[in-house]
Amino acid sequence: MKVISTISELQSRIKSLNLSPVGFVPTMGALHKGHLSLVERAIPDCPLIIVSIFVNPTQFNDKNDLKNYPRTLDSDLEMLDTVLRQADIVFTPSVEEMYPAEDKRVFRFGNLDNVMEALHRPGHFNGVAQIVSRFFEIIKPDIAIFGLKDFQQLAVIKEMVRQTRDKVKIVGSPIIREADGLAMSSRNMLLEPEIRKNAPIIYKTIKQASSMIREKDIPEIKSFVKGSIENAENFELIYFDIVDELELKPVTKKTKMNAGKKYYGCIAVKAGKIRLIDNIEIGLD
Ligand code: PAF
Repeated sequence: MKVISTISELQSRIKSLNLSPVGFVPTMGALHKGHLSLVERAIPDCPLIIVSIFVNPTQFNDKNDLKNYPRTLDSDLEMLDTVLRQADIVFTPSVEEMYPAEDKRVFRFGNLDNVMEALHRPGHFNGVAQIVSRFFEIIKPDIAIFGLKDFQQLAVIKEMVRQTRDKVKIVGSPIIREADGLAMSSRNMLLEPEIRKNAPIIYKTIKQASSMIREKDIPEIKSFVKGSIENAENFELIYFDIVDELELKPVTKKTKMNAGKKYYGCIAVKAGKIRLIDNIEIGLD
C-alpha cells in the first residue's frame, strides 16, 4: 500500500494505475476490525482501494468532541497493511488540503435530517455530506463502502448521491461486534473501564426490544429500553426510535408498520461521557 497526503499526488497515482472498479472506504482513523471489514468487503470487487483517514472538522458540532477524537495514525497504518494490497492507497490529507477555503455548501435531506442523530447533532450530516462529496469529486470511486452502524449516515449518503446523480455505488456493510456484543466503534477506546464493562447492555437491550415487537406495542418497548439502559450506572438514553429503512420515519404504533417495509431500532446512549450508537433490524414476522 502507498500512503499519500496530497490531492495532486493521489489523482496522478489513480490515473497512472488505471485500475477499475475503484473502491473507496472513508474513515476518520482510530481503526478497528469494523473498518477492516469494510476494506475486506471491497477487496473481491475492486483491484484498487483507497482508504481515507481524515478527522473531518465540519461534522463535529461539539469542538471538545473534535479535540478528543482518537488519533492513532501509526497503528491505523499497521492495521491497514495487513489487508491492503500493493497498489492500494491510504489517503491522509490535512485539513488545509481538504478545505482550502471554508465549505459553505448546505445540503437538504428532508426527513433524514429531522430525526434521531440530526436532532442531537445539528449540522453533523451537512458536514458529513461536505467531506464525502469532496472525496467523491477527488477520487471518483465506482464503489464506496460505509458501515451499517452509522445507519442514518448511510441513508443520508444514499440521498446525497441520488441528488447529485453521482454514479458511485453505495454499499452498507454489516456491524462488527466485540465478543460481548458491543458494536465496534472508534469511540469505544475512550470508555472508562467501569463503563466499558457495562456497555454490552446496549446491544442486549435492543436485541430484547427486537424480540418484544411480537407481543408489545412501541410505547411499551420504548419504555423498556429506557429502563434497561438507565438501570446501568452512568448510562443515559439519548433516544431509541423504530424507523423504516428508507425515510427513517419513527413509528409510534405497531399498526402503522407495513409488512412490506424493513424497520430498524436505532439507539443513542451517553455511556459516561461518551456517546455510542447502535441499531438492529426489527421485523414483524
Ligand atoms: O463514518 C465516519 O467515520 C465519517 O462520518 C466519514 C464517513 C468518514 C466522514 O468523515
